[in-house]
Amino acid sequence: MDKEAQARIDVWKYALGFVEMEAVKCGIELGLPEALESHGKPISLSELSSAVACPEISLHRIMRFLTHNGIFEKQRPNPGSELFYAQTPLSRLLTRDNLGTFLLVQDGPPGPRFSLTAQDSKAGKGSGVEVSPEESKMWSMEFKTYGKMFQEFLASHAKVATSAVIENFPESFQGIGSLVDVGGHEGTAIGMLVKAFSWIRGINFDLPHVVSGAPILDGVEHIGGNMFESVPKADAVMLMWILHDWSDELCIDILKKCKEAIRKSGKVIIVEVVIDDDEEGNRDEYTGARLAMDMAIMGSTLNGKQERGIAKEWAQLLHAVGFGDHIIKHMKAIESVIEAYP
Ligand SMILES: C[S@@+](CC[C@H](N)C(=O)[O-])C[C@H]1O[C@@H](n2cnc3c(N)ncnc32)[C@H](O)[C@@H]1O
Repeated sequence: MDKEAQARIDVWKYALGFVEMEAVKCGIELGLPEALESHGKPISLSELSSAVACPEISLHRIMRFLTHNGIFEKQRPNPGSELFYAQTPLSRLLTRDNLGTFLLVQDGPPGPRFSLTAQDSKAGKGSGVEVSPEESKMWSMEFKTYGKMFQEFLASHAKVATSAVIENFPESFQGIGSLVDVGGHEGTAIGMLVKAFSWIRGINFDLPHVVSGAPILDGVEHIGGNMFESVPKADAVMLMWILHDWSDELCIDILKKCKEAIRKSGKVIIVEVVIDDDEEGNRDEYTGARLAMDMAIMGSTLNGKQERGIAKEWAQLLHAVGFGDHIIKHMKAIESVIEAYP
């Protein structure tokens, strides 16, 4: 692998390193190493869920991250049979009477900074703030806490992800005369897309207070509004890093508005981190970063999900909205592109 390609993978280690630490701390706080030790043999998800009083829906995500990182081991007695988790030399060192407590005190107790707590996981929810269509608390809070740095954070992500989309899937933008980027923030992504594909007229759509401060961009019109009420009409709609913040029910509401906005031959282009469960699917050198992003979403929202599985969850979600068909395209980046057709 060339140095630039390796750097694009390594940078996520630094960007998400503290999230990984929080997820390991959450596993220790839940008592996972002790539960496996006292079980004395590999344990199923449902047995582990009862042992540590944490619902399977949360525990499955945490265990998927921890096994990928070699803290526990996945075992299947036969191909296709139930999955079991087993202790490893590393997880034995993470019991509280070994180095578990030492790890827990690093960076202080769960607090106002990012944290993924065992208490929230046991309640089957994330540790972040609630995002509701009426009052987008999360966004106002982030803007208030981080100010300009938050805008720079979103713009820098948009730059990296949009470059990958342009480089890997230029054909996705053929035949699109107008494209609205829903939740496009200050227009970084749509600005890059109209520059790369000059036939596109771009619309950057975001909350009114966000677009009111957005810079003037060639070929881009900024429109303020609420995606739960309506989305500006266009040939196609893009949603990048939007759906992971919302519950399935609210994603369906957002996608319905996007579907209403496009013409019959149009499409909705979703750019998200897509994680397939188990061994199938897009497991590659970015899988670790994708799983860490899932932990980041679990720590920063109440009901967001990074881990909608390809076959099951995306298909169910898009079917519930009424899309006739969809395809998922993977690339050498943490995001994938899902195109949904009416
Ligand atoms: C995680 S950011 C993604 C920004 C950008 N698409 C990117 O990939 O960097 C989510 C965006 O959704 C916007 N947003 C949140 N609620 C919204 C709503 N109800 N209507 C329109 N945009 C909304 C936020 O202001 C924010 O810019």
